[in-house]
Amino acid sequence: MKVLVVGGAGYIGSQMVKQLTHAGDSVVVLDNLSTGFRELARYCELVVGDLADPLLLERLFRKHDFDGVMHFAAHSLVGESMQDPGKYYRNNVSNTLNLLEAMVRHDVKYFIFSSTAATFGEPEYVPIDEVHSQRPINPYGASKLMVERMLQDFHTAHGLSSVSLRYFNACGADPEGEIGECHDPETHLIPLILQAASGRRKSITVFGRDYPTEDGTCIRDYIHIEDLCSAHAQALEALILGHKQGALAFNLGNGKGYSVQQVIEAVQLVVAEDGCNLMIEEGERRPGDPAKLVADASLAKRELGWQPQYADLETIVRHAWAWEKQRASLVK
Ligand code: UFG
Repeated sequence: MKVLVVGGAGYIGSQMVKQLTHAGDSVVVLDNLSTGFRELARYCELVVGDLADPLLLERLFRKHDFDGVMHFAAHSLVGESMQDPGKYYRNNVSNTLNLLEAMVRHDVKYFIFSSTAATFGEPEYVPIDEVHSQRPINPYGASKLMVERMLQDFHTAHGLSSVSLRYFNACGADPEGEIGECHDPETHLIPLILQAASGRRKSITVFGRDYPTEDGTCIRDYIHIEDLCSAHAQALEALILGHKQGALAFNLGNGKGYSVQQVIEAVQLVVAEDGCNLMIEEGERRPGDPAKLVADASLAKRELGWQPQYADLETIVRHAWAWEKQRASLVK
């Protein structure tokens, strides 16, 4: 297969590229390096450019005969999307439209889209399955839902088949330690706790202990990026082999929730082996955080044959800690 990976120099996209190239696929990455890193895209050809540039897209699709496209290049910070919605609608919606139109012009028929649990909004029940209503409560979730909707129309009008994969909490790092998360600023729980343990950050603040959960902290479904990527590969294969068609969507998580407190405890056990510990501070609730988000991912398992390999929180933390230790020693 020849695959275009848009955003392939980022946290999840780069892991995807590694997996595809190891499976023998030919990959071209398009990334504007706004949050990605050239060294993370070292497994294949990298085109530095932006989806806002239709001429670049035209050249790219003329030069290569792609079998399919995977799209990871979105802005993904909920808080930022509340302050600057235009940034989210421009990049996540309008630029994705440019990409889809280029695909249609060049008759590329298969598309895998990084969607999000944020399309659901405040959960009506957990675990959240695919028939749960989608009422996003922030521009980030709304922008992703708009693309899901566009994909339905592009299938009807142009026969473009797609799979939208709704990630719950993406985390972990390359099991081989070659790539991992390097967001700046970092806002996600696991890397922040690990930075507090490695000394790159003073402490970790728990955002609220008064939620209606057993220990009062928020519960999330943490899913390893390697498992997210295997779902993408299986989804693209299912489309290309003709086993699936339409504009499909699957939730991706482990179906098991961990509270912020449980994640902190899991990290404490792992980092203690290296003689590290961390300072914990108490903070207010972060606006917009639902108490509990857990995926029902049984449809992806049934329909794609997907099976997470790194569902265990300790393994996720170990991989992320190995990556953080490298980063911490590089930064010092
Ligand atoms: N948290 C803290 N302290 C921190 C950071 C986070 O207590 O310093 C808590 C949050 O309040 C939340 C949990 O840790 O309860 C997880 O927070 P993250 O920021 O790591 O992840 P989110 O659940 O907020 O967001 C993730 C994705 C989003 C996606 C969302 C879907 O990162 O892209 O899930 O709801 F939109």
